[in-house]
Amino acid sequence: MSESKRILQTFKGNKTDQIPFWFMRQAGRYLPEYRELRKQAGSFLDLVYNPDMATEITLQPIRRFKMDAVILFSDILIVPHALGQDLQFVQGEGPKLDPIRHEDQIQKLSIDYVDDKFEKIYQTVGKVKQKLIDEEFDQTALIGFAGSPWTVACYMVEGGGSKDFHHTKIWAYKDPVIFQKLIDVITQATIQYLKGQIKAGAEAIQLFDSWSGILDPYLFEKFVIHPTQKIVQSLKKDHPNVPVIGFPRCAGVLYTQYLEKTDVDVIAIDTQVSPSWARDNLQNKKPVQGNLDPVALLTGGDALENAAKTILNDLSSGPFVFNLGHGVIKETPPEHVQQLCEIIRGHKR
Ligand code: CP3
Repeated sequence: MSESKRILQTFKGNKTDQIPFWFMRQAGRYLPEYRELRKQAGSFLDLVYNPDMATEITLQPIRRFKMDAVILFSDILIVPHALGQDLQFVQGEGPKLDPIRHEDQIQKLSIDYVDDKFEKIYQTVGKVKQKLIDEEFDQTALIGFAGSPWTVACYMVEGGGSKDFHHTKIWAYKDPVIFQKLIDVITQATIQYLKGQIKAGAEAIQLFDSWSGILDPYLFEKFVIHPTQKIVQSLKKDHPNVPVIGFPRCAGVLYTQYLEKTDVDVIAIDTQVSPSWARDNLQNKKPVQGNLDPVALLTGGDALENAAKTILNDLSSGPFVFNLGHGVIKETPPEHVQQLCEIIRGHKR
C-alpha cells in the first residue's frame, strides 16, 4: 500500500520514526553503472527515450543505497523537445536548443503531438512502478517531475545554459505579453506531461525551478508564482492525493510568498537557506525537503557529517525529507553517498 511509504506520509505532513531521504540527481554520472549504460546508449536522449534503459538507471541508486524514493530518469528539456524545438545534449557542453527569440517561433510550438513524445517516458514510469513491486522495494516511492515554466523558458530562449539568462530576462521585461504566450504553452504541455506521469504511476511530483532566483519580485510573481499556481491547481483537480514538491531554487526571501501562494504540498530548499530559518518560517506551514550542499557530499568525512547533522538537528522536529540543496556533483565518490545514508539512518528524532 503506497500510503504506508514513509516518504509519502511525510509529504502529507506526518512525522515518521525514520527521516526519509532521496537525493536530487541521484541517478547519473557519479555512478559507474550509469556511465556504462550511457556509453551503450550513445547519447543522453537515446537513454531517456529508451524505457528499458531509463528504468534501469532510475533504479540504480536504490539498488546501492535504498533511498526512500526514486526519481524518474528523464530531463526537464523533454517538454521543449516534445513541443517541437530541436534539442541535443553535446557531451561535455550540456544541452543545445535552437533559440526562440520571436513570437512566430512561439506560434510554431505545438501542443498537439506532445503525448507522442511523452509516451516513452510514461512507459518508463510504468516499468519502474512495476519493478518496485517485483523487487520488493515497498518503502520506495516513485517521484515524477518537470521543470517549471520559467526555468524551461530560460533554456528555450537562450538555446542552452547561460551565466545570466539575459536574453530571457530582457524579453520578459520588454514584452511581457508575448513572453507570457511562451510561458502559457510550456505550462499547458507541463500539465499534460505531469498528469500523464501520474496516470502511469508517479506517486509524487517535483517542480524544478532552478532559475527562479534571478527574477525581481514583480517578475517572480508573474512568471514563477502564477504558472506554478496554474499547474498545481490543475493537478489537484484531477489528482488531489498526489503531493507536489516545489523547488524555487535561490528564491531567498520570496520562499515564503511562493509557499503561501502556490499551494505546493512540500517546499524544497536550496543550499543557501538556513535550516533554522526554514524550520521557523516554512516548516510551520508545510513539510520541508533539503538542503545539504552537494559540495559537502563531494568533500565527505567530518565536513559531510557536521553539515548533515546540523540540518538534521534543525529540521527533524517537524515533517522533513532529507535531500541536497542541488544535484549530486558528478565527481562525488559513491562511498560518500553511502556515508551520508548511514548518517541519516542513524539519526534519532
Ligand atoms: O536523478 C535525477 O535527478 C533524475 C534525472 C534528472 C536529470 N536532469 C538527468 C540528467 C533531473 C531531475 C534533471 C533536471 C534538470 N535538467 C534540471 C533541474 C535541476 C537542476 O539541475 O537545476 C535542469 C536545469 C536540467 C537541464 C540539464 N540537463 C542540463 C543543464 C544538463 C547538462 C548539465 C549536466 O549536468 O550535464 C542536463 C543533462 C543531464 N540531465 C544529465 C543527467 C543525468 C547528464 C547527461 C549525461 O549523461 O551527460
